[in-house]
Amino acid sequence: MAILVCGGAGYVGSHCLEALIAAGYDCIVADNLSRGHRQAVGLAPLYVGDIADAAFLDRIFTENRVEAVLHFAASSQVGESMQNPILYYENNLSATVSLIKGMLRHGVKKIVFSSSAAVYGEPEALPILEDSPKAPTNPYGETKLAMERFMHWCDVAYGLKYISLRYFNAAGASPAGLIGEDHTPETHLIPLVLWAAQGKRDKVSIYGEDYPTSDGTCIRDYIHTSDLAEAHRLALQRLLAGGASDIFNLGSEQGLSVREIIETAREVTGVQFPVQTAPRRPGDPAVLIASNRKAREVLGWVPRHSDARSILSSAWAWHLSHPDGFGE
Ligand code: UFG
Repeated sequence: MAILVCGGAGYVGSHCLEALIAAGYDCIVADNLSRGHRQAVGLAPLYVGDIADAAFLDRIFTENRVEAVLHFAASSQVGESMQNPILYYENNLSATVSLIKGMLRHGVKKIVFSSSAAVYGEPEALPILEDSPKAPTNPYGETKLAMERFMHWCDVAYGLKYISLRYFNAAGASPAGLIGEDHTPETHLIPLVLWAAQGKRDKVSIYGEDYPTSDGTCIRDYIHTSDLAEAHRLALQRLLAGGASDIFNLGSEQGLSVREIIETAREVTGVQFPVQTAPRRPGDPAVLIASNRKAREVLGWVPRHSDARSILSSAWAWHLSHPDGFGE
């Protein structure tokens, strides 16, 4: 029996794929390689195509005995979603409808879904709990929430069992050193900081130093891809054992400011790269910190690699060994 990993060539998908294979699961990957990287899949069988394509899905489900699906395939840039909501509703929501229709045609009723802290929008209280108000402030978060609701109704109607994992700020790279973060365009803080340390950028812009936080910069809850991968393994195990549908936050509960990330990056890299203050980025909440209590209690998940040093040193090792990312 196989596990189908949709979007397994992407950043979080490839880290979870690597961990599942290491844990002994037989995995196959579906990815359209629009943002993902062929090399990130390693030796796992890769079907190149789109989950919006019913014939593509039928071929995968016919050629393999798929037991469960892990679904990472989505567009994931907040800014792009504001410019092009149609892309996000098509690529995220419509494609997920297609995927679940395909699963149900072939009797596959278990899915671990890649959701986001973006479903909450600007939090009213911290830390953020799974049942905190959901008020997405962009189409990216809105489509993630819509997909969760869609899966809920598919459970009611067809008995689909889903576990939705709401990541806070995914960061870091696999300790094995073969995969890491490589987005085009890159908008995330940590890779941009490390590019500055490598001299690929002349400086880092801090988007706002006038937030109501201890040092004036935004605070986020960074979670290492190794910890995310372990949560996916536990969620999959739970569904395979007959567990019910559920939703979990995946965060470390430790807030780190933009300044703290920059200072840790300077220590880890030994490079005093320049920084400049820039205007606030529209739509950035001041502070996002998860409560991960539910994932700890129900899944038995314990984040072990999500301190600033572990995140930045693993990401730095990847950047040093892959100065051009996957080079694709
Ligand atoms: N930042 C800078 N300078 C940069 C880039 C980012 O100061 O050059 C700041 C941002 O303003 C923010 C923090 O660094 O305060 C982190 O920004 P990222 O772009 O790395 O991550 P976000 O918090 O914006 O986004 C993450 C995920 C999204 C998800 C969102 C939920 O990457 O997928 O959290 O709010 F939607």
